[in-house]
This record gives sequence, C-alpha cells and structure tokens, in this order.
Amino acid sequence: MAAPTTDSLFVLGISGSLRRNSYNTSLLRLAGALLPKGVGFDIVDLSDIPLYNADVEREEGFPPPVARLRARIARADALVIATPEYNRSVPGVLKNAIDWLSRGPESPLDDKPTAILGAGGRTGTARAQQHLREILVHNRVAVLSRPEVLVARAWDQFTAEGDLADNELIDLVGSLMTALVEEAGKVTTDDDPAGEAARIG
Ligand SMILES: Cc1cc2nc3c(=O)[nH]c(=O)nc-3n(C[C@H](O)[C@H](O)[C@H](O)COP(=O)(O)O)c2cc1C
Repeated sequence: MAAPTTDSLFVLGISGSLRRNSYNTSLLRLAGALLPKGVGFDIVDLSDIPLYNADVEREEGFPPPVARLRARIARADALVIATPEYNRSVPGVLKNAIDWLSRGPESPLDDKPTAILGAGGRTGTARAQQHLREILVHNRVAVLSRPEVLVARAWDQFTAEGDLADNELIDLVGSLMTALVEEAGKVTTDDDPAGEAARIG
C-alpha cells in the first residue's frame, strides 16, 4: 500500500454562517491556515444556494449553484464544516445545503472525510455539532470523532481582526486538521495513489 501523501490533497471549507464577520468563517480560515504545507484549501459560499424544493429537483434538476457546489465537494478530498448554533441546532442555511447535497443516487458526501467545529455561545455549539454529526452520519459522511473543537463565548475569543486569541484552541484546531489530512490521505491513497478519483468528481 502506498504511503499517504498530503501534497496533492484539497480540503474544502463550509461555513454555516453567511454573516460578514462570522466567527465560524474566521475559524474556518484558521483551520485552512493550519493545514499541512502543500494541502489546498478554499471556502465555499452558500449565499446563492436556493431553498430545497423537490418540485424544482424533479422538473429542472439541480439549480446551477447547487450543481456547482456538488461538483466542488465531489472534487475535494475532505471537508471541514464550521457551524454556529441557532436555536440549539444547525442553522437552516447549512441544513438546506446538506439537504441538496444528500440527493441523487450518488451524493458527493458519500464517505467524504469531514471535520466539524464551531464557535458560538455558552456551550460552544455543542448541541449544533451533535445534530450536525447525526445528519452527516445519516448521509454516510466519514465524520472525525476527535478532537472536538468548541469555541464558547466566541465574542470573547476572537480579536477585532477575526483572529482566535486562545493558543490551546488554536492547537486543537491544528490537531483536528492533522487528523483530517491523515484520514483523507488514507482514503485517496489506498486504492488510488494519485487521488485522481476524488478529483474527477
Ligand atoms: C437565530 C439565532 C439563534 C441562536 N441560537 C443560539 C443557540 O441556541 N445557542 C447558542 O449558543 N447561540 C445561539 N445564537 C448565537 C450564535 O451562536 C452567535 O450569534 C454566533 O456568533 C453566530 O455565529 P457566526 O458568528 O459564525 O455568525 C443564535 C443566534 C441566532 C441569530
């Protein structure tokens, strides 16, 4: 079996918040910056994803923004999802995107190595992450179980420039990214040394 290589891996970030100064999007940027050197990273924008409507899917197929999102996820070797907590669960924006992604005989989410983390209020998105994990596991997503990254009282943890100030939390985000790349390396190298299958999508 070929040794896992990180050089050709690509990780896609998804933020559950559309807010301009979102703590969760800041957390995702940090996660991207802490990926091992050579690993590609980008964050997708969910603001143009329409509300799921089964009539639209049946009559017209996937709307162009949904088709683009599905293709980008299919090409990525791994995902990292940062979720806020809205009313003790995941925001509708994120759930709606997952609903579109889950459709079809083949979902781009299938078996995708995925890390989750979140920044929120007193409980640091614990309940939102629990729900998100359940939703993703139902969709055959390979969600990492550890380490758990929960940023509580986000407004106290980020600087005005959107940088996370707590070194222990930064290290935890780094560990999560190391674990994600390790997992993605296994998936893309076991049967496919160049990782081409994951990139073709
Ligand atoms: C509609 C709504 C519901 C919320 N519900 C919760 C909640 O249940 N638990 C919590 O910790 N924070 C809750 N919050 C606060 C958000 O977690 C907080 O605003 C967070 O910073 C949003 O993430 P963002 O900075 O990435 O936009 C809620 C905020 C909104 C707008």
